[in-house]
Parts: sequence; C-alpha cells; structure tokens
Amino acid sequence: MTETRRVVFITGASSGIGRAAAIAFARSCCHVCGLARRGDRLDSLRDEIDALPAPHGDFLAVVGDVRVPAQIEAAVLRTLERFGRLDILLANAGVGHHGAVVDADWDDIETVLRSNINGVLHCVRAAAPAMRKQGGGHILIVSSIVAGIHTPYTAAYAASKAFVSSLAGSLRLELEDDNIAVTDVLAGRTQTEFNQNRLGASEQIRGGLPTKTADEVAQALVKAAERRPRRLILRLFDRMILAGGVIAPGIMARMAKRQYRPTEDE
Ligand SMILES: NC(=O)c1ccc[n+]([C@@H]2O[C@H](COP(=O)([O-])OP(=O)(O)OC[C@H]3O[C@@H](n4cnc5c(N)ncnc54)[C@H](OP(=O)(O)O)[C@@H]3O)[C@@H](O)[C@H]2O)c1
Repeated sequence: MTETRRVVFITGASSGIGRAAAIAFARSCCHVCGLARRGDRLDSLRDEIDALPAPHGDFLAVVGDVRVPAQIEAAVLRTLERFGRLDILLANAGVGHHGAVVDADWDDIETVLRSNINGVLHCVRAAAPAMRKQGGGHILIVSSIVAGIHTPYTAAYAASKAFVSSLAGSLRLELEDDNIAVTDVLAGRTQTEFNQNRLGASEQIRGGLPTKTADEVAQALVKAAERRPRRLILRLFDRMILAGGVIAPGIMARMAKRQYRPTEDE
C-alpha cells in the first residue's frame, strides 16, 4: 500500500524560516508548495530540495504576493492540481518595521499591515476550504513574541503580530469541528534576512539577545505539525519574555524601549 504524503503550503519560502521549513518538511517526505515574490530564490530552493538524499518530498515553486488574494487562491489551486491535497498551511511570510508610528512613512506601515495581517487572512481563507473538504488539516501562523509585549518603535509590526496571534486563537475554535488545528507560532529572534528586509528606520536594533537559527525553528515546526499544539514557543527565554509581559508589563516595556529605540535618540 502506498502511503499518502502530506502536502505543505509555505508562504515566504524564498528565505529565512520559510526556506528552512520547506527543506525540513521535504526531508520528512512531505510535498511542499513554496510561495514568495522572488522566483529566482524559489528556483534555487527547488534545486536544493531535488538534490536531497532520497526519500524526500517534491517541491512546487509559485511566485506570488500574499497581499493579493487572487494569487493565493491560484497558488492553492496549483498545489491541489499538482499534489491532490493540502494538509498543512505555514503562513510565514512577513515583513518587519522599525521607527516611530507618528513619523513613519504611511506606505511602509501599510505594507507591514497588508503583508502580515491581510496576507495571513488571504492564505487561511484560501487553504481552509480545501482542508475542510478532505476532512482536516493544520494551520501554523508565524507570529512573534512581540505579540505579547508592548514594543515602542516597532509598534506596527508588533500590532500586526498581535492581530495574527489573536486570529490563531479564534480560528482554532472556529475550525476545530472541521478537524483543522491552528497553531500560534510565537517565534523569537532568529538569524535570517529579516532585519535587512525590515522597512522604516535603517538603524540597527540592539543585539545581545539569544537567537535561533532558521534550521532550528524549521525543525520545531516539523515537530509541531505532528503534535498540533495551540501555541509554539521555541525556548525558555521567549517564555520568560511572554510571562514578563503579563506579570510585569511596565518593566518589560521599559526594557523593550531600550532595545528598539533608534540609536540617534540616545
Ligand atoms: N527573524 C526573526 O527574528 C523573527 C522573529 C519573530 C518572528 N519572525 C517572523 O518569521 C517570519 C519569517 O521571517 P524571516 O525571519 O524568515 O525573515 P526573511 O528571511 O526576511 O523572510 C521573509 C519571507 O517573507 C516573504 N514575503 C515578504 N513579503 C511577502 C509578500 N508580500 N508576499 C509573499 N512573500 C512575502 C519573503 O519573500 P519575498 O521577498 O521573496 O516575497 C521572505 O521569503 C515572518 O513572519 C517574521 O515576522 C521572525
């Protein structure tokens, strides 16, 4: 009897966490559809997955923008045509922002909100009906630990992540009767291109905090796709930050202000 391979749809597969997750899921024999705007990056990812030692899953590259619902719907259709099913959505694509809300360019704020909020909504709304039809599935939404604390000078980004974390909790209840699990992935600092791609102020955000590699995050995502937890928090440090946001929000806010304040304000 041939085993049915799980099929994973990953947004933001061209770099960082999404790229590492595409490789990790393919290694674990899932078929993967990876979506992003940079097609050349997706082509090189396909070559890397093709070169993995057998057995591994196949990779379908789809160039698309999560802000455009028609492109996401078309990408889900292509996934279903190619692989026949869709078991896991990893809504990962996102963009950061640094700078004071009042002084920031509106275009930057709008890009952050449309990518991080609308983008996740479009993906969920496109993927869930296919999961429903086939009797179940799993949606992992990549949020951030900043969703649980107040972070000045990265407020639009943090608020967008608070939105999707809240969304994940509500969706879990809305979709449980369809056997679709929803996981809120509260990622902490990870070594990716995220800071280079961030919009807004160009100053570096202070370092010194522990970081994970994208591969470590990807491994945790593959495990979470087995366990289907309500929340995925990747390390003790992140748990402490989130607990601090509840127990001592004032202290956490002051620490966040030091961390995120543009350097010229010092
Ligand atoms: N790195 C961290 O420290 C960290 C911490 C907490 C949470 N996160 C979250 O983790 C997720 C992945 O970020 P990363 O760290 O891996 O950063 P990254 O290396 O910059 O990757 C971001 C990915 O999102 C894609 N993307 C951005 N806008 C898109 C759009 N409109 N349509 C389609 N794809 C789009 C990018 O692809 P294209 O540019 O090719 O479209 C890229 O593949 C994000 O949601 C981020 O908020 C990251």
